Amino acid sequence: MQKFRIITVEDKHLSVSPNLENHERAYRDFDLKGWVRGEVEYFDDGKLNAAYNAVERHAHNENKNKVALYLVDESLNETKLTFFELNQLANRFGNYLKSLGVNHGDRVFFFLPRTAEIFYGFLGTLKIGAIAGTMFSAFGSDAIYDRLENSSAKVLVTTEELKTRLISVRRKLPALEHVITTKRLAKVLAKHSDELHTSHTDVDDPAFMLYTSGTTGKPKGVIHAHKAILQQHLTAKYVLDLKPEDVYWCTADPGWVTGISYQILGTLSNAASTVVYSGRFDPKTWYKIIEKYRVTVWYSAPTAIRMLQAAGDELVRFHNLSSLRHLGSVGEPLNPQPLLWSNRVFKHPFHDTWWQTETGAIMIGNYPCLDIRVGSMGKPFPGIHPAIVDDHGNELPPLTEGNLALKKGFISQMTKIWRRPKKYKSYFIKGWYITGDRAYKDKEGYYWFVGRADDVIKTQGERVGPFEVESAIVSYPACAEAGVIGKPDALRGQIIKAFIALKPGFKPSEKLKLEITEHVKHHLAGHAYPREIEFVDSLPKTRSGKIVRRLLRAKELGLPLGDTSTLEEY
Ligand code: WTA
Repeated sequence: MQKFRIITVEDKHLSVSPNLENHERAYRDFDLKGWVRGEVEYFDDGKLNAAYNAVERHAHNENKNKVALYLVDESLNETKLTFFELNQLANRFGNYLKSLGVNHGDRVFFFLPRTAEIFYGFLGTLKIGAIAGTMFSAFGSDAIYDRLENSSAKVLVTTEELKTRLISVRRKLPALEHVITTKRLAKVLAKHSDELHTSHTDVDDPAFMLYTSGTTGKPKGVIHAHKAILQQHLTAKYVLDLKPEDVYWCTADPGWVTGISYQILGTLSNAASTVVYSGRFDPKTWYKIIEKYRVTVWYSAPTAIRMLQAAGDELVRFHNLSSLRHLGSVGEPLNPQPLLWSNRVFKHPFHDTWWQTETGAIMIGNYPCLDIRVGSMGKPFPGIHPAIVDDHGNELPPLTEGNLALKKGFISQMTKIWRRPKKYKSYFIKGWYITGDRAYKDKEGYYWFVGRADDVIKTQGERVGPFEVESAIVSYPACAEAGVIGKPDALRGQIIKAFIALKPGFKPSEKLKLEITEHVKHHLAGHAYPREIEFVDSLPKTRSGKIVRRLLRAKELGLPLGDTSTLEEY
């Protein structure tokens, strides 16, 4: 392990002193209570509401008239909301939900593009103690159905256009009492008061839920409690280095955890002004946004960075990006090449951060005060205790690959998997939360990502379960069975590749490939379709009939096949 030379990069252009000045000391002396004091506010009765921290307190302090959100569309038209205005809208929305009979603990889901409604809607839901769930606007009808059905959501907020994806599944959702479109919201909100008594939620009360994929089964509803705001706030301050005067841009969608933790909760809680761009990815528009809003802190993902690099240096030079002072990355491995490129063209390197939907906030990262070991995910945040363990939960020594684990009980750890207590328990062994990632630690305590321990695919930084894609494929009449893997891709990290056996009477063709692709896009999601399809006569299976994706991967990549003794003849 680690036969290569370690390259170190220092951010040579730190324009202000970082919030975290010495990682080693902070890690050694960390004390949660002390760190939280003056940062996150509890109510006098010891209760805590994440939305109160993200927006309400700022609506009544010196940040009142400061822009909380710059909502920017593809043509760079903007809508500005101050902390005061955002809070008022959240209050109106909360009151509206109450008038509909939404109670503490009820699930309110959002299927929206990145417009104002998702922000005030999310915050208003938390304010009344209900649980907010978000869904990515690329989802198709099956993906929406799985989430609304499993959560028994009472309310769905969506647009007229996205609502059409609900039509085929609507009657199978008896718990869904209200489907509210943004058009309707625009009419009714004015009728509701902009004053609301924010619920004094308990630190452990659920605040939001996000469905995420594993190797098998349907996506699981990961629940996060209000107390996760503590870790979200502290990491936004000490890893993303946010200061109140910053203009911050997070390129993620609120349908994913990054968009919740670092576009709504932890970052607004730090009172930074946040840019939200709702249009498609386009390098020129991205640079224009940085230039126009004088973005100082930028949080993005490796696929986007690689795409920017592919668009060339000329475009970077054409824009004034001198406002940038700190860059962060998350979601998939940040390869050395785009990192070194960013350091050259933006004069700052992207700082990799590692975390997951289940961890609710950054766990391991690179800090402005620490030199970057290129290719490493960095060092744990103070208060977080990772380790590399074997399959029985025993710690392994440095420079040994194993399961990346985190000591159980950190503040933003998921509190349950919705309706799946056994599944929840299965994540823990001997006091460790097992992340599902393989990694190793070097002698100086930097963590290095190796890969997933399971079959989960990361394409363009987005997490996709192979089982969901396979199910969508076999629901197409011509398909008998399917095996899906992540295939390494220089730009997208991985792409989804499907091996499909057809039913008798169907012949492989390019036309059929297109039809299957469209079918998956429509039913599952616009981003989770196979970019490559290979028709096969049969798929490798265990004797009990489970498809062995490991073999498909090995064949695709020309790797050794490993132990095949438990397989059906193939
Ligand atoms: C992967 C995203 C390498 C990893 C916030 C993890 C990473 C999964 C990194 C979680 C990184 C995330 N380097 N891999 N810096 N960050 N991952 O739930 O496999 O969408 O388990 O959360 O993304 O994905 P999720």
